[in-house]
Amino acid sequence: MSPSPLDPSHPRDPLSPDRRTSDAVVVVHRSGPLQGEVVVPGAKNSVLKLMAATLLADGEHHLTNVPDIADVSIMSDLLAAIGVTTTSPAPGELLMVNTGDITPVAPYELVERIRASINVLGPLLGRFGRVRLSLPGGDDFGSRPIDMHLSGLEAMGATITLDHGDVVATADRLHGADVTFEFPSVGATENILTAAVHAKGTTVIDNAAREPEISDLCRMLVSMGADIEGIGTSRLVVHGVEPGTLRATRHDTVPDRIQAATYLAAAAVTGGELFLRGARADHMDMLLRRFTDMGLELVPQHDGLSVYAPERLRAIDVATLPYPGIATDYKPLIVTMLAVADGVGIVTENLYPGRFRYVEELCRLGADIRTDGHHAVVRGRAALSGAPVRAPDIRAGAALVVAGLVAEGTTTISGVHHIDRGYDDLVGRLAAVGASIERRPPR
Ligand code: UD1
Repeated sequence: MSPSPLDPSHPRDPLSPDRRTSDAVVVVHRSGPLQGEVVVPGAKNSVLKLMAATLLADGEHHLTNVPDIADVSIMSDLLAAIGVTTTSPAPGELLMVNTGDITPVAPYELVERIRASINVLGPLLGRFGRVRLSLPGGDDFGSRPIDMHLSGLEAMGATITLDHGDVVATADRLHGADVTFEFPSVGATENILTAAVHAKGTTVIDNAAREPEISDLCRMLVSMGADIEGIGTSRLVVHGVEPGTLRATRHDTVPDRIQAATYLAAAAVTGGELFLRGARADHMDMLLRRFTDMGLELVPQHDGLSVYAPERLRAIDVATLPYPGIATDYKPLIVTMLAVADGVGIVTENLYPGRFRYVEELCRLGADIRTDGHHAVVRGRAALSGAPVRAPDIRAGAALVVAGLVAEGTTTISGVHHIDRGYDDLVGRLAAVGASIERRPPR
């Protein structure tokens, strides 16, 4: 039987203790073709939002397919400060208890660690009519404003002020509104959605983001009793329900398409063959088309995705775009693949201008990459050469690990705490399919 969430002897921290280690390094040696099966964990960019959605209803919420990543732990700390407790009754599961005793304040020490903390704004304002939230942190890839979140909430009747670095939002009760985004922001779509479920009347979100993680959140909200039409489209229609009528739920987190792409990239650069159990090919359509152009053979199965890599990849040009375009989070992996492909590829970043910082680190491994504004020109080389490098953010950290698999000698990656924010045992999963890789604890 699962331990009670109220049992004080049961650890509240849902994360494996070794993932809390920030000074570890990952040591990678050039590896032969990866072979075997990788189980794809649940999506970071979904589960953090699902966790925030537990603020919307009292009771015991049960989340499954939860990745063992540091950001889940940080989000559980943030929600504990607000009033929702988290325990892990079994690996990959979270039991989240909302007793209704909520303090709608998100403190700076927690908010600054994780961008997704902004996702408490919509639920708290919609349900409790007030919230104080420090401006969010997370990966540092350039300026990441929240103006669309705030103007959407204002259109729904919120009064918003900035006070000593905090956003303070209040509303007697939000009302439905037509909210049209000038850009399909993931976070703004989620916040308007979770605010709208309790608003009086109907909210229409036009040019909504369509990421699979947003559909996952919508499905959880519907299972809690929310009334949402247009799930998976760029026009979401939310008919508000009375506060207090939503109920706690059980929800299975959507598989992580970015982690899946990481294992595809690892198979690709080593000329390997992998089966990615749980990977959703339908959530990665555009990426898989481009990977096919690079020479990968990709075979969707009912329970995952098989990949067969060629001896050498072919270069392509790629531009990042909101879903269903190529996600910006895939880009460091694509640049790494191009670094060892045959030919020259141009990668264009359309979401975050500053998101090429890892390129210097790849160049330390011998990659030939030049950046110019939004563009990176990558001239493929037959192999890279190992060196010490530092992970600048989550996805770039994973890309450096992938690069290490095709680098002669030893690649030592520091800044592993970035990787731990979004990857559930990347090292163990790669080692299990033949990679020469280990995690070394801090000296
Ligand atoms: C989410 C993901 C992140 C991913 C990104 C784009 C999480 C926790 N993070 O981030 O991994 O890279 O989607 O797919 O899910 N913007 C504004 N004003 C706003 C909101 C956004 O100008 O009010 C800009 C941002 O600065 C950025 C772009 O829009 O340039 C994309 O932001 P958005 O889609 O909101 O991404 P996030 O939700 O922050």
